[in-house]
Amino acid sequence: MAVKPVWNPSIGAAGLFLRHVAVFEAELGLASGFGPMENDECRMNPAAFEVFVNALLIQHRRTSHATFRALDELRIAGSISSLRGRHEMAVAATARRRIFPGSTLRRVNADDANRRWTASMPEAYERHLVPALFRPFAAALAARAAVLRPGRILELAAGTGALTSALLTALPEASMVATDLNEAMVTAGSAREPRAHWQQADAQQLPFEDGGFDLVVCQFGVMFFPDRPAAYAEVARVLAPQGRFVFSSWGTLAAHGFDDAFQTALEECLPGEAPPFLREVPHGYTDPALVASDLTAAGLSLADAEEITLDGVAESAASVATGFLNGTPVSAALQARPDAETLQAAVTRKMTDRLGPGPVTAPMTATIYTARHQA
Ligand SMILES: C[S@@+](CC[C@H](N)C(=O)[O-])C[C@H]1O[C@@H](n2cnc3c(N)ncnc32)[C@H](O)[C@@H]1O
Repeated sequence: MAVKPVWNPSIGAAGLFLRHVAVFEAELGLASGFGPMENDECRMNPAAFEVFVNALLIQHRRTSHATFRALDELRIAGSISSLRGRHEMAVAATARRRIFPGSTLRRVNADDANRRWTASMPEAYERHLVPALFRPFAAALAARAAVLRPGRILELAAGTGALTSALLTALPEASMVATDLNEAMVTAGSAREPRAHWQQADAQQLPFEDGGFDLVVCQFGVMFFPDRPAAYAEVARVLAPQGRFVFSSWGTLAAHGFDDAFQTALEECLPGEAPPFLREVPHGYTDPALVASDLTAAGLSLADAEEITLDGVAESAASVATGFLNGTPVSAALQARPDAETLQAAVTRKMTDRLGPGPVTAPMTATIYTARHQA
C-alpha cells in the first residue's frame, strides 16, 4: 500500500488541519505559529506553536463537557502529531491539578551571596542552564498566562529573559516590564530581549504605582526572596483589581534530575563542605500550603497550584555542570578555592557517570501557582 504524505494539500488533510487551527486560534486569542500554505510548504514558528499547544492542553484539562472533550481530543492529537521531535518535551509534561483554599521585611541587596549574579555569570546561566532547565517551564508558564490576555505585564526576577521572550511571543501586543535585582542580569536580559522594557528592581520594593499591571509573573524567582509575604504584598499593590499573579517554584531536589545529580556530585567531592545553595534556595520553597499562607498574609489568595514534570534536554552533563559552576551563586563559593579546576573536573566526571555522555535528559518537577486579590 502506498503511503500518502500527510502535508500534501491535494489530499486535503493539511488544509483541514490549518482551518481547524484557525478556529482555535480565534477561540484562544493566540497565534498558532503556522504560516499560510504556499507550494506545499507551511512555515512555522516553533516557540509560538509550543505556547499554543500548551494553552490547548490546559483548556482541554479544564473542561468536563463530553462534546468539547471529544472535539478537543481530535485537535490536540493533530497538534501534537505536528509537534513531535524537538518540541515533544513540553507537551509530554504530566500535569496534576490541585486547588488549595485560599514578618518582618528583610530588604535584600545583590551583595547577599545566594542572590548575586555578576560579571559573566548571566552569560554562563543563559548558555548552559536556560535551554535545558528554564525554557521548557517558560513555555508552560507563558501558555497559562497567555489565556488571561493581559495588556500590561510586570515580570519579577526575570534573569536573562527566558519567560520574557515566551510571553512576548505569545502576546506580541502586550506591554512588558521585566525586572531583576541584579544589574548584570538586567544588562544581559535587555540585550537578549529588547522588546521588553528592562529595569533593575528588588521584588520586595517595587518602583511602580498601585494597580498598574494586569498580570505579574515570576519564574523560579520567589525562592530567592528573603521575605516572601513582603514581596507578595508588593505584587498585590501593583496588581489591578482583576489582575493575576502567575509564578513558579521548583519541587524537591530529588524530583529534579539535573539539580540532584549536580548537588550529589558536589557533596561527594566536598564531603561536609559543599555549598548548600541548590538544596536550600531553589529547592527550599516546595510546600504549596506555605505558599498559600504567604500569599494570604499579603492580601492575595491562591487560586490554583499545578505541579508539572517536564523533561529537560542538555547537550551534555558537562554543559550542565559548567552552568552550575559558573552561572549560579555556587560559583562564588567555589571559584575562590585553590583546587577550583580539579573540583570542576571531578564534579563533571561524576555527573557524566550518572547521566551518561553526549546529550542528556532528566525529569524536572515544579509547581505553577496562580493567585489573585482576596475577595
Ligand atoms: C534562577 S534565576 C531565574 C531567572 C529567570 N526568571 C529564569 O527563569 O531564567 C533567579 C533570579 O532571581 C533574581 N533575584 C534574586 N533575588 C531577587 C529579588 N529580591 N528581587 C528580584 N530579583 C531577584 C536573580 O537575580 C536571578 O536572576
